[in-house]
Amino acid sequence: PVTSKVALRVNGQGHELDLDTRTTVLDMLREHLHLTGTKKGCDQGQCGACTVIINGRRINSCLSLAIMHEGDDITTIEGLGTPDKLHPMQAAFVKHDGYQCGYCTPGQICSSVAVLDEIRRGVPSHVTADLTAKPMLSADELRERMSGNICRCGAYSNIIDAITEVAG
Ligand code: FES
Repeated sequence: PVTSKVALRVNGQGHELDLDTRTTVLDMLREHLHLTGTKKGCDQGQCGACTVIINGRRINSCLSLAIMHEGDDITTIEGLGTPDKLHPMQAAFVKHDGYQCGYCTPGQICSSVAVLDEIRRGVPSHVTADLTAKPMLSADELRERMSGNICRCGAYSNIIDAITEVAG
């Protein structure tokens, strides 16, 4: 296989890796860095289980090649909080039962954190009819923005409750 070097940061720690050029960010995280909090659901951009935050934006890590991320800053669920010190979004998911089996949860939480940042920055949502509309913190807006993260157990309403609480 053709390999290439890539240097990037994951959860604040620098890494230099020599990777098969076809390696996705998801496989780099799980198989090379052993950060298995990020989950592989569909491996084709449909479920959101693999969502991580790269340079402040959420991304389906199964759809992006690792070598495209030279110098980038990646945050995974392991970088948001620890069992002793949960990120406020993690704590809210626990409080509101925002999961059942838990498989989609790391992606849901990374996405939730990035969603609140998107709203704060005034980024319009992709599927709204009026792209000039100011983002609002309504349940509808949150549901729309979280629509790329599938939960097969159907914990959606509790997930929205958790995000709403963190949003204040
Ligand atoms: Fe990436 Fe499903 S595993 S979107």
